[in-house]
Amino acid sequence: MAVRDTPPFRADHVGSLLRPSELLQARGRFKAGEIDADTLRAIEDDAIRDVIQLQHDAGVRTVTDGEFRRGSWHMDFIYSLGGIRQVDGESIHVRFRNEEGELDYAPPAMLVAEKITLTRTVFAEAFAFLRDNALGDQTPKLTIPSPSMVHYRGGTSAIDRDVYPELGAFWDDLIAAHVAELRTAHTGHLDRATLAAARELLDDVFGDEMTDEAWEHALGGIHALAWDRGELIGHASVVQRRLLHLGRALRTGYVEGVAVRADRRGEGHGAALMEPLEAVIRGGYEVGALGAADAAADFYAVRGWKQWRGTTSALTPAGIVRTEDEDASIYVLPISAPLDLRGELTCDWRDGEVW
Ligand SMILES: CC(C)(COP(=O)(O)OP(=O)(O)OC[C@H]1O[C@@H](n2cnc3c(N)ncnc32)[C@H](O)[C@@H]1OP(=O)(O)O)[C@@H](O)C(=O)NCCC(=O)NCCS
Repeated sequence: MAVRDTPPFRADHVGSLLRPSELLQARGRFKAGEIDADTLRAIEDDAIRDVIQLQHDAGVRTVTDGEFRRGSWHMDFIYSLGGIRQVDGESIHVRFRNEEGELDYAPPAMLVAEKITLTRTVFAEAFAFLRDNALGDQTPKLTIPSPSMVHYRGGTSAIDRDVYPELGAFWDDLIAAHVAELRTAHTGHLDRATLAAARELLDDVFGDEMTDEAWEHALGGIHALAWDRGELIGHASVVQRRLLHLGRALRTGYVEGVAVRADRRGEGHGAALMEPLEAVIRGGYEVGALGAADAAADFYAVRGWKQWRGTTSALTPAGIVRTEDEDASIYVLPISAPLDLRGELTCDWRDGEVW
C-alpha cells in the first residue's frame, strides 16, 4: 500500500490521551487557587510537548495535544459557544467501580440560556501552540464535538424555551456556529501551507491584480476557507479598517480576497464564505465595507450590501484625496453606524490600492 502524504492517513488516533499526573495535580492546585493561570499553562505546555514527541515516536502522521488543556474534551467546546451556560446540581450521577473501589462521577451539565453564537474561534490558541510545536511532517489535528452533542446531553429540557420556542431555530443557530468554527480562522492561527494555498488561489483567480500589497490587505483578520478533499477552493477575509463618515472614524470590517476557484463557482461556496464573515462583521464592527469587482457587484447586492452612492476619498499622508474611480464600486453592509449612502466616505491609508 502506498504511503499517503495528505490526510486522511492510513493510521490515525482518536480521543484524548491520558493526562499525566503532574498535569492533574496542577489542575487541582489551580482550582484551589494555589497556582496562577500562567503556571498552569507552562505545565500544560511541557506535557503537550512530551505527548507530541510520543505520537511522533509512535509513527502516526497526525498529532493532537491530547486535549491536555481541556477538562472535558467536548464540554469545554460546548461551554465556549455563546449562549450556553454551565449549570451545577442538575447533573446525572454515575457510580463507577473498579478494583480500587468506587468512584462517583457527575458529568457537567449545561443550559442553552441565550441564542447560540460563535463569539471567537474555540481552541484557536491551543491549536496554534500545537501547530508551532509539531515535529517533522506531523499534521496538527483538533477534535471538536458534533452539533448533536449539544442536544444529546440534556435534550430539550436543557434549552430555554423562551429563547427557542421552536427547535428548528435552535438547530439553525447551532449549525451556523459550527460551520463558522470550521470555516474561519485568524491569520495568526493558519499554518503556512494554508496561507500559501490561499495566495495561490487568489493568484489564479485575480492574475496580475493580486500583487503582494493586495495579498497583504487580506491578512491580519479572520479568513473564511472552503475546502474540498484537501484542496482549497474558496477564500475570503475580513480585516479591520477605519472609515471616516459623518464626522466619525467607524470601526469597519473590510472584506478582502473573495474568490472561488473558477471550476467551482455557482455551487454556493461564495455565499458560504461570506456568511460567517458577515456574522463577524455584525458582531464586531459598526459597518462592513468592500470594493467590489464589477462582475461581482450583484453577488454582494443580493446579500444586503449597499452600493455607495456618494463620494469616496482616502486619508493619505498628503491629506484627504478623492478616489473618484472607486465611487461606484464601494459597497457597505449597514450594521449600527448611521450611514448617509449619498454622503462622503473616506478610507484610512494603506500601500497599494487604498480601497
Ligand atoms: C464572486 C464569487 C466569489 C461568487 O462565488 P460563487 O461560489 O460562484 O457564488 P455562489 O454560488 O455562492 O452564489 C451565491 C448567489 O449569488 C449569485 N451570484 C454568484 N456570483 C454572482 C455574480 N457574479 N453576479 C451576480 N450574482 C452572482 C448566485 O447566483 C447565487 O444566487 P442564488 O443563491 O439565488 O442562486 C465568484 O464568482 C468568484 O470567485 N469570482 C471571481 C473573483 C471575484 O470577482 N471576486 C470578488 C471580488 S470583489
